[in-house]
Amino acid sequence: MALYSPTYSTSVIFTTRSRSRTTTTTTGHGEMRQIGRRKRVVRVQMVSSSEASSKGGVAFEEGRLERPKWTGETPLSRLVRALISFKPLYSLLKLGARQVLISTAEKTNIPWREMTREVLESEVYKELESIQNPSVIYPDYYLNPFHAYDEGNLSWLAAAEAEAATMSMVRRAIPNASSVDEANQTVRGNWLQAIEQHHLQHSGNSMIKDILDIGCSVGVSTRFLADKFPLAKITGLDLSPYFLAVAQFKENQRAPRKNPIRWTHANGEDTGLPSKSFDLVSVAYVLHECPATAIAGLVREGFRLLRPGGTIAITDNSPKSKILQELSPVLFTLMKSTEPFLDEYYLTDLEGTMREAGFVNVRTILTDPRHRTVTGTVPL
Ligand SMILES: C[S@@+](CC[C@H](N)C(=O)[O-])C[C@H]1O[C@@H](n2cnc3c(N)ncnc32)[C@H](O)[C@@H]1O
Repeated sequence: MALYSPTYSTSVIFTTRSRSRTTTTTTGHGEMRQIGRRKRVVRVQMVSSSEASSKGGVAFEEGRLERPKWTGETPLSRLVRALISFKPLYSLLKLGARQVLISTAEKTNIPWREMTREVLESEVYKELESIQNPSVIYPDYYLNPFHAYDEGNLSWLAAAEAEAATMSMVRRAIPNASSVDEANQTVRGNWLQAIEQHHLQHSGNSMIKDILDIGCSVGVSTRFLADKFPLAKITGLDLSPYFLAVAQFKENQRAPRKNPIRWTHANGEDTGLPSKSFDLVSVAYVLHECPATAIAGLVREGFRLLRPGGTIAITDNSPKSKILQELSPVLFTLMKSTEPFLDEYYLTDLEGTMREAGFVNVRTILTDPRHRTVTGTVPL
C-alpha cells in the first residue's frame, strides 16, 4: 500500500482540456489518466490540501520506503559489478543499453539520431575555443566513463546527444504525455513553480536579479530559467566545455534576449565566482551524477554564492518516488553500471547536507512522479 508524505496530502487535480472547455477533476490517485475520449490530460498537479490554496504547492505520490530497496550494496549489484568488470561483456552491455535508449526515444517521437547528426554536422566546434577554460581542473569522478561514453561528458558525442537524452528523461517522467512539450509542462513547469513560490515566501521580498545554473549541460534548464525570469541575468555553468559549446551554439541561433545568457566553464564546487552574487542557484539533475563529497561541495558553494534571502533549488530523482521504488531491481542495477554514483546520491541525506551548509527553510516537493525539488534559503 502506498503511503503519502505527512506534509503533503493525497488530493490530485487533473486538468484536462477538450476542444471547447477545460475540466478539472480531483481524485485520490497520483497518476495521469485520460478522462473522456476527446479530452487530453494537459497537466497533472497533486496538490497539498493544506498548502494548495495558499501556496499552490505541488506533490505526487510517494512510495512506502525512504529510498528504493535496490540502493546500496546488494547481492545483485555485486553480481553485476563482477560481470561488468569483464570488459568484453561490459562493452556488449553498453552497446545494448545505448541501442535501447535510442530506439525507446525514437519510438516516442524524439528524433535522437537526427538531432545528434544536426549538432555533429554543424559549426558547433568553433565555440569550443571561446568557452573552454584551460585552468579548470577536473575532479577525478568526472574523468570516469559515464552514460556509456568512454570519455564521460568530455566528448562531442555526449554533447550532441544531451538534448535528446534530456527530452527522454522528461518523457519517462510523464509517459502518458502526448509530447515532450506537454511532459515539460509538468516536469519543468512544476520545478519552476516550486522555485518561484519558495523565493516569494522566504526571500524577504528580494527580486531574482542574478541566477546561476550549475551543471547546465547543453543549456536546457538555463533556457527554461531565462524564459521564466526574463529580467534576471543568467549564468549557465558546467564542467564540460563540449556541452557548453552546444549550449552557446544553440542559444546564438535563437532571437537575442534582453539579458543574454553567459556560459561559464568551471567546477560547480569551486566556481571562482564572487561570494553573495546570486539570488537563485539552480542545480538540476546534476547530483545523481556526483559522489557524496561533490554533492556536499556543490551545496556549500551554492551557499557561498547566494545573497542573504537567496534560494537554492536542487531537482533530481526522488528516493521517495513510488515509481522509482517500483523499478525492477535488475534494471536499476544495470543503470548503476553507467551511472556510477547513483548509490551515493540515493544514500545522501540531501536536506541534512543543505542544513549543515547553513540553509534554512529546507523544503522538499515531488514536482513530478519521479523527481523532487528541494529548496532552501540563505538566512536573511
Ligand atoms: C544531467 S546534466 C544536467 C541537465 C540540465 N541541468 C538540465 O536540467 O537540462 C548534469 C550536468 O552536470 C554537470 N556536472 C557534473 N558535475 C559537475 C560539477 N562539479 N560542476 C559543474 N558541472 C557538473 C555535467 O557536466 C552535466 O552537464
